[in-house]
Amino acid sequence: MNYRHAFHAGNFADVFKHAILLALLDALTAKDKPLCCFDTHAGRGRYALGDGEAAKTGEWRDGIGRLFGSPDLPAPLRRYVDAITAFNPDGTLRIYPGSPLLAAQALRPDDRLVLCETQPDEATALRALFRDDRRVHVHVRDGYAALNALLPPPEKRGLVLIDPPFEAQEGEFTAIETALTQAHTRWPNGVYAVWYPIKAHRVIAPFHRHMASGPFDKVMAAELLVRPDDSPLRLNGCGMLIANPPWKLDAMLARLLPALCVALAQSAGASESLRWLRGE
Ligand SMILES: C[S@@+](CC[C@H](N)C(=O)[O-])C[C@H]1O[C@@H](n2cnc3c(N)ncnc32)[C@H](O)[C@@H]1O
Repeated sequence: MNYRHAFHAGNFADVFKHAILLALLDALTAKDKPLCCFDTHAGRGRYALGDGEAAKTGEWRDGIGRLFGSPDLPAPLRRYVDAITAFNPDGTLRIYPGSPLLAAQALRPDDRLVLCETQPDEATALRALFRDDRRVHVHVRDGYAALNALLPPPEKRGLVLIDPPFEAQEGEFTAIETALTQAHTRWPNGVYAVWYPIKAHRVIAPFHRHMASGPFDKVMAAELLVRPDDSPLRLNGCGMLIANPPWKLDAMLARLLPALCVALAQSAGASESLRWLRGE
């Protein structure tokens, strides 16, 4: 395993993923009842942009770097940028929060957050970050296997975020399909969000076809291409597949995605889309 998320922290894919994560958690926390959020591939939770891996690639400059501090952001992006600003209160962008930290910020005192991470260094950093937060449980274990062991949560409400490094390339989709099928038998009503990279669309099509044929009744896919996907060697965009999306999430994403596309486009062929693969 060579993947280290620090190289990519705050890039366009993180912006897309985390803006949607917050939209999901906002929709779920609108109801009074406690919930549980699982992050199966959590990373270290917090990234310094000014040094180390993030500074080396500078990927964040075409991601959060384009939005942070901007005075007139469209409303759908404001919620996300405000969340990042809370970790950089002096107005200088130094820290990029990963999905665990953003989720912890969005959750309420009675909600729980379950984090899985296999790389020991990343898991150690994650544990240290949440040492004093009793809502958060860190597991140093395979995130897919953890779903089998931990679903359904006692709260019976909540979200599973699946955000793998895709080192296994197309094989990762097979692992995700298996995990979702098993998770559905244990917790059919959970909300599931799966991030995936887009280099070329033909690689994604079998995954979409699989999810369109079950087991979940409602499945949507949100996608952003920062350039046309005609160069299969580059990360041209990314998507989020959402099974059992909360009520009105589609309307929220229909406002968010065009704003993300305008803000993050890297060439004239940038585009976004929101599609129901099954249901609605
Ligand atoms: C894309 S990064 C996660 C980023 C994080 N979700 C965020 O948005 O801030 C993927 C992480 O998954 C970890 N990982 C890889 N395989 C795993 C597995 N089978 N189970 C749990 N974690 C895994 C990697 O070490 C890496 O830190």
